[in-house]
Amino acid sequence: MLAIRLFAEPDRLDTLVLPVRAAGEAEGGDAPAIPVLTAATLPEGVAEEAGALVPAARLTGRAGETRTHLRPGRSPGVLVLAGVGDGDEAGWRRAGAAIARAVADEKHATVALPADASPEAVRGLYEGLLLASYRFRLTDAGEAPALAQVDLVVANPDDHLAVVEAARTTARMTRFARDLTNTPSSVKNPQWFAEQVAERADGTPDLHLRVRGPVELAAEGFGGILAVGGGSASTPRLVELDWRPADARTHVVLVGKGITFDTGGISIKPVPAMKLMRKDMGGAAAVVAATLGAAALRLPVRVTTLAPLAENAVSGSAFRPGDVIRHYGGITSETTNSDAEGRLVLADAISYAVRELKPDVLVDLATLTGANAVALGKRTGALYSENDELAGKFLAAVEAAGEQAWRMPLPADYVEYLGSEVADLFSAPTQGAGSVLAALYLREFTDDLRDRWVHVDMSAPSWADSDDAELTKGATGWGVRSLLRWLATLS
Ligand code: BES
Ligand code: MN
Ligand code: ZN
Repeated sequence: MLAIRLFAEPDRLDTLVLPVRAAGEAEGGDAPAIPVLTAATLPEGVAEEAGALVPAARLTGRAGETRTHLRPGRSPGVLVLAGVGDGDEAGWRRAGAAIARAVADEKHATVALPADASPEAVRGLYEGLLLASYRFRLTDAGEAPALAQVDLVVANPDDHLAVVEAARTTARMTRFARDLTNTPSSVKNPQWFAEQVAERADGTPDLHLRVRGPVELAAEGFGGILAVGGGSASTPRLVELDWRPADARTHVVLVGKGITFDTGGISIKPVPAMKLMRKDMGGAAAVVAATLGAAALRLPVRVTTLAPLAENAVSGSAFRPGDVIRHYGGITSETTNSDAEGRLVLADAISYAVRELKPDVLVDLATLTGANAVALGKRTGALYSENDELAGKFLAAVEAAGEQAWRMPLPADYVEYLGSEVADLFSAPTQGAGSVLAALYLREFTDDLRDRWVHVDMSAPSWADSDDAELTKGATGWGVRSLLRWLATLS
């Protein structure tokens, strides 16, 4: 991971990045975009040169805009101007991402921040740099990124210690979730996933891990996880990761869908729909990474995370359309379509949480339906909750973190579609809005936590088809940033 250090004065001036604020209303009318006054002492003439470059290079200061100017034989040898918009956290995050891409071929760069840079600005810049410079590398093939270190020059580095720790942990854990999600399913079976969690949880005080395998799952009645995982040569697991600090007053349970590959099962997916189904554990990756992050930051809130892990495979031992599954706690589902597998493993985990853990709040994240993208496009998760206050606070955290979600309804007139003649519930109704129906199905398992429950269908934003601002093509780690922001507000 790219190393970022804070200094009060530049240490090296090979590549220098100067921020440029947007022209705009704040300055009154048509004020020109101007390089911000930096905290740093720059070599003679550099600030003036940057000022002259703004109109010459037609910079508007829009967040994410960059211009690179080469100065061979002089110091700095590369001068980059980077727009930060109106200078809020989101503008700096976008700028950080653009800077990471603009200087990707340099080994080292220095960003000189404004003398009055806020901790939020530093946080945005820091996260943007670390998230956009992410690359998934399974082998040593291809070119490694050159950029190894970025120095941020700020007036008082000590003022930013807390945000730097939060930003660093958030980015590190988002990158971990991306790594898990990008990993091919030939490597990442349920056992492998559980081992990755164990490796990272090991040695952290107050952090406890329990992994249930097929024998324990059968003994305790986790019928959904066992049915979905039954067709695979790799047996299912249930990861239970518990961050339990002594000073916690609130207990949150996080649940994440962990299908390590989704073939659709006997109701097999066609080729284009199956091609990226290694990403079907993005919810599990996000909740686990956020919990490790909460522990690393020692957030004073108890977080118990459940990741039901299974591979939805096709074989003679796979569950069938029409099978009736008995979930943890006893509710039964008629499984009309083996491709609606995510809700079956989540149902077990939610029932277990409600009955045995009895938290204050329950949040689940899942790559649950293709309908998420149909309704909301490629970057926005579908959020469901019956609790306006909880939904509002969660959405505020999502927005502050730089992710996107939109609240969706849980309409009463759809509940009848969940009726089955042979079981308590029908798992995959064929008519109606898919993401809504999946949410209504999950709600049936929330019992007395029904109004303290948030469900996010994050199928769409969990993956980026191309590099985009702080997202690198591939897994986005959606949810880690939002969850950590939200958990921090509970302390
Ligand atoms: N994992 C998929 C949902 C998905 C689709 C995630 C595209 C990411 C991108 C899920 O298990 C699934 O197959 N859902 C079905 C539900 C249907 C059978 C009721 C779907 O969305 O078609
Ligand atoms: Mn499926
Ligand atoms: Zn799935």
